[in-house]
Amino acid sequence: MGFFKRKEEHIDPDNLPKHIGIIMDGNGRWASRRGLPRNVGHRSGAQTLKKITTLCSEMGVRALTVYAFSTENWKRPKAEVDHLMLLLKEYLSKAEEELAGKDNRIRVIGDITPFSEELKQLIAHIHKLTEHQTGLTLNIALNYGGRNEIVAAVRHIVQSGVKADEVDEALVEQYLYTAENPPVDLIIRPSGEMRLSNFLLWQSAYAELWFSNVLWPDFNEKHLRQAILEYQKRHRRYGGI
Ligand code: IPE
Ligand code: IPE
Ligand code: MG
Repeated sequence: MGFFKRKEEHIDPDNLPKHIGIIMDGNGRWASRRGLPRNVGHRSGAQTLKKITTLCSEMGVRALTVYAFSTENWKRPKAEVDHLMLLLKEYLSKAEEELAGKDNRIRVIGDITPFSEELKQLIAHIHKLTEHQTGLTLNIALNYGGRNEIVAAVRHIVQSGVKADEVDEALVEQYLYTAENPPVDLIIRPSGEMRLSNFLLWQSAYAELWFSNVLWPDFNEKHLRQAILEYQKRHRRYGGI
């Protein structure tokens, strides 16, 4: 039967996506299908994030931006929002010990003003602790919305007194949360939904998109490899030929 076995494909290390965005979706459905509370799905999703961050870092991906809580997710029942905040606190508190020996830089992107003082302090601590790391940058998008990010950028530009004819795409990009990162090459969305849900709207202009029915807690190395292999087969024209 060996004749029919497909040759294993290899990821080309010279054509890796430099920056990957992931919409970590499907935690609730993962739990419901098992008759478990949605919170269990979120907890499981947080474990997946740790594994995928390590894999991306080992592969040599430069930046990973993950959608953890959108500006629209406040619409959820208070108990679910509270649990997500708790999970976040746990994740960031443990990040310090888990980071030991790793070279990853962690940043939280989004509007953190409505978060508790404790959470804000944890975020500031993690930023400071990892700001000089030179490996993968993990951007955790919290209370993030692509439209909100663009509005915030426009506000900053106006406040800084820039003249209208000095505004161009490069300038706007300097005011986005991802200004220091390479352009987003690949956006991954598990869970079967085929939309961006307000994630990286500006940055996705020429990103490659990869969708899958797998639910985020089940997302593993195999799926990451599939997404990257498919990315490497795409012909990125950027409007050219
Ligand atoms: C994504 O999983 C996590 C967050 C939005 C916080 P969901 O909670 O949206 O899971 P589904 O889409 O209901 O399955
Ligand atoms: C997008 O997922 C937000 C996150 C994964 C954090 P949602 O579950 O909120 O998106 P919709 O509601 O299906 O568009
Ligand atoms: Mg969802």
